Amino acid sequence: MLNPLSVENARTLRAFFEQTGYNETTLRKHLGAAELPSAHLRNRARLLDRTSAPTPLNTLLRWFWLGLPQERDSAAQHIPAAELALMLQAGLLAADDGMLAPRAMLLHFDGFLVASDHPTAIEARQAEMVLWPNPTSKFLARFAVKRRSRATLDLGTGSGILSLGAAAYSDTVVATDLNQRAVACAQFNARLNAVENVEVLAGDCFAPVQGRTFDLILSNPPFFITPQADYLFCDNPMELDSLCRRLVKEGPAYLNEGGYMQMLCEWAQIKDQPWEERVAEWLIDTGCDAWVMKGVTQDPEEYAQHRIRETSTDTSGDNARYAEYMGYYRHRGVEAIHSGVLVMRRRSGQNFVRIEEVPPTPTGNLGEMILSTFAAHDLLRENSTDENLLLLAPRLADHARLEQICRPVNGQWQAEKLNLRLTTGFAFHVALQPLVADFLVAFDGTRTVAAAIQQFAAKAGAPIAKVQPECLSMVRKLVERGFLVGV
Ligand SMILES: C[S@@+](CC[C@H](N)C(=O)[O-])C[C@H]1O[C@@H](n2cnc3c(N)ncnc32)[C@H](O)[C@@H]1O
Repeated sequence: MLNPLSVENARTLRAFFEQTGYNETTLRKHLGAAELPSAHLRNRARLLDRTSAPTPLNTLLRWFWLGLPQERDSAAQHIPAAELALMLQAGLLAADDGMLAPRAMLLHFDGFLVASDHPTAIEARQAEMVLWPNPTSKFLARFAVKRRSRATLDLGTGSGILSLGAAAYSDTVVATDLNQRAVACAQFNARLNAVENVEVLAGDCFAPVQGRTFDLILSNPPFFITPQADYLFCDNPMELDSLCRRLVKEGPAYLNEGGYMQMLCEWAQIKDQPWEERVAEWLIDTGCDAWVMKGVTQDPEEYAQHRIRETSTDTSGDNARYAEYMGYYRHRGVEAIHSGVLVMRRRSGQNFVRIEEVPPTPTGNLGEMILSTFAAHDLLRENSTDENLLLLAPRLADHARLEQICRPVNGQWQAEKLNLRLTTGFAFHVALQPLVADFLVAFDGTRTVAAAIQQFAAKAGAPIAKVQPECLSMVRKLVERGFLVGV
């Protein structure tokens, strides 16, 4: 396990890594695509070749990137004795028979140097492996609502990666994990990065924070839906998706009014159920507004194959493992497995629950997008009558764009389709008629919905009473999706 260093020693070690060039920019340059060593990618030979020159940086790379032991004597030629001693004291290295072997991987994320286990821990089947900064952690970090939080909880902290980021906008962060090795690792990383407002606690789900409440809860829990629970970091040990359900059911009690809980999750779709049914049940009577953004869907066959590939490198047991997975899904009637981001906001009153499939690869500031989406629902709720909505003067979002698709007809471009599209956040789009496009561009933040409808009715040569219901329904939909915003 890693041992947190003193503030002074942590600073010395961090500075040493920086001076040696073990930083994000140099690593990218030095290692090309800077991909992690992986049996699956078969890139070990290339990375070994890249790091073959005997230099201080290559010594560090071979330990903390490639996960390779090195002879103590040759390492000592490149690493000063004081820093070597600190690495041993921290548990980053272990001495064995003239060799120094790495006990952690060190990656950069958002300006932090983050220790975790190396992916080879999967090959070694270490149940208590601590996950490295990976695409799921980074994805959730992008969604985090980064406004001031009096107290933030990072449930299932692993390396502490989400806590390190949250510490910048939180008065205090509590990071929890069931895995003692993760607890030590998160403590180590907070110290290594001179982050002082993170408290790390061990325990199951919300047990370590009984009686406390938070403005923000972040969780990237072990959500894999698999028949076994081999690894703490990824395998949900409960029936199907029940761990995620449990967090959704229990989480609201730990939120302050107006506080957000944001988590990644997977849920099963059972035979004859609509895809959203299970996750909708989780969200009944939580006292929270909720937005579920469904991403990738996989059928059980694809899912089993991916999960087996991600959690084992030894192919000899593949047939038996695949049969076990498929038996588990078939027995329970699982027809699909969905993944997504789930956001809840505790609010007294009648809550909304929005569950939808979203376009892939969102861009821009996703925390802002979450806040503005919940604000849009508030605006609609506060102006739920037609009379109130008619008095609003919304404006088109700055990142809304109108696209025209044309096709060639007799040597001319003929307009075929108009699409209103968002260029940041989720790339939602909606097809428009030209008259409707004119109706929308009138929304500049000064004209009321009533005035815009009047103008539209006059242009269309239709009575207001006839067009108004459809126009209002369109305004509601476009506010909800973020095309129109309140001023
Ligand atoms: C997918 S990893 C995420 C780690 C880190 N937050 C990240 O995003 O990289 C899930 C973490 O949840 C922890 N965990 C698993 N079961 C738990 C439980 N019942 N209560 C608290 N933490 C748990 C695991 O040990 C692991 O560190």
